Amino acid sequence: MSSFFYKPLAADESGELFEETRRRRTHVKKILFHFVAVAAFLYGIYLGTSGLLKLSGKRRPCHGPTNLNSTLPSHYTLPSGDKIPTVALGVWQAARGEVGAAVSSALKVGYRHIDGAWAYGNEAEVGQAVKSSGIPREDIWITSKLWNTFHAPEDIEPALDDTLTKLDTPYLDLYLIHWPVAFKKNTNEVDEELTANPYPTWAKLEELVDKGKIRNIGISNFNIARIKNLTANPLKYKPAVNQVELNYFNPQPELLQWSKENGLILEAYSPLGSTKQVKEALNVPIVLNISHRLGITPAQVLISWHVKRGTVVLPKSVTTSRIEENFAVFDLPDDLFTKLETAATSHPPQRVVNPSQGWGLDYDIFDENLPY
Ligand SMILES: NC(=O)c1ccc[n+]([C@@H]2O[C@H](COP(=O)([O-])OP(=O)(O)OC[C@H]3O[C@@H](n4cnc5c(N)ncnc54)[C@H](OP(=O)(O)O)[C@@H]3O)[C@@H](O)[C@H]2O)c1
Ligand SMILES: *[C@@H]1O[C@H](CO)[C@@H](O)[C@H](O)[C@H]1NC(C)=O
Ligand SMILES: *[C@@H]1O[C@H](CO)[C@@H](O)[C@H](O)[C@H]1NC(C)=O
Ligand SMILES: *[C@@H]1O[C@H](CO)[C@@H](O)[C@H](O)[C@H]1NC(C)=O
Repeated sequence: MSSFFYKPLAADESGELFEETRRRRTHVKKILFHFVAVAAFLYGIYLGTSGLLKLSGKRRPCHGPTNLNSTLPSHYTLPSGDKIPTVALGVWQAARGEVGAAVSSALKVGYRHIDGAWAYGNEAEVGQAVKSSGIPREDIWITSKLWNTFHAPEDIEPALDDTLTKLDTPYLDLYLIHWPVAFKKNTNEVDEELTANPYPTWAKLEELVDKGKIRNIGISNFNIARIKNLTANPLKYKPAVNQVELNYFNPQPELLQWSKENGLILEAYSPLGSTKQVKEALNVPIVLNISHRLGITPAQVLISWHVKRGTVVLPKSVTTSRIEENFAVFDLPDDLFTKLETAATSHPPQRVVNPSQGWGLDYDIFDENLPY
């Protein structure tokens, strides 16, 4: 070792060498003293800041995507004032045994928003991954969804409590009515009344906001007619978001426009076309063209398109490299954005996700002409 601290002194105890040793020791002491002083100062600042944050009782700002490469928003502000991060990790079809690792990778890359649901059957593992990240709970946005079998007001709080227990958290940032279809308890049989009029379900969710178990409430898979029907009631809290299928094949420009005009944030689910159509989506000629021109991947082109459209985007992946890839959002040049928007909206829309038939309904859930 020949560093300053370890430079060996000659064995000879002459006065000169002694003086040299003393000088060096004094120097070391000075350096150590400065080092300790600076460390103590920084620690003081850290304690002061975290103390102030605790005292003010305020939610610390949610860290959103840190790598939005532009003026695109990293968050949207909801009616409550809470800021929802633009890009989330979706965890539908992320199996138990792999979903925890996916959530951990996402949090490492910088995601601070997880889009889950009771029905995905993986909330306990998601909760463990969030806990073990060591990131403070208030810095992570967690969404869950109320399943169809629990729409009856008396079933909602127990369903929510089950989700909270599994996630191991005292509150959700966002709780959505997963589908505008209510099933009778423990069955797949439609409850016609609660389906036609979801207000009793909504009113119970409002109560749970006031109880502090949910910070924001919203809807999912609601079309314009259903939103109008729900919001014609004397709501205490209006829906914070509507989570719907938005992708190249089903871009829903009318719903997007209407939602903007009515101050309702949309969340894009199956943004890459879902498991069934992701390959096709990533090989759409205009997507490939933009990808080549900008030197970004086809998935990044599509995710960036969603953000520029003004929606939250919820790509799902359990593959670390893709989780990383999907978090890099780019501000597409206006002309390329318009080309992609035009291409997406000029073919007949085609949904990837539509359980109407599977649930034995004699109507389409998404039909604007409501069946009652
Ligand atoms: N509210 C609702 O009713 C509803 C319905 C559907 C979805 N959602 C939400 O939306 C989220 C996303 O939707 P989704 O899972 O249907 O579809 P998606 O995110 O459009 O697509 C997921 C598929 O794309 C693959 N993939 C992801 N990133 C990729 C990349 N960069 N390159 C190539 N392939 C990639 C994934 O594979 P790997 O995982 O194998 O990497 C997976 O097969 C869900 O997880 C859920 O949170 C909500
Ligand atoms: C931002 O964009 C530039 C080129 O447009 C790219 O080189 C850089 O890697 C991007 N940064 C991030 C964090 O995505
Ligand atoms: C919503 O639609 C249902 C079914 O038609 C109806 O009973 C209910 O009154 C409507 N709600 C409002 C507030 O208009
Ligand atoms: C993309 O499309 C444009 C117009 O059709 C064409 O001129 C250009 O060469 C294409 N670029 C790539 C990289 O494919």
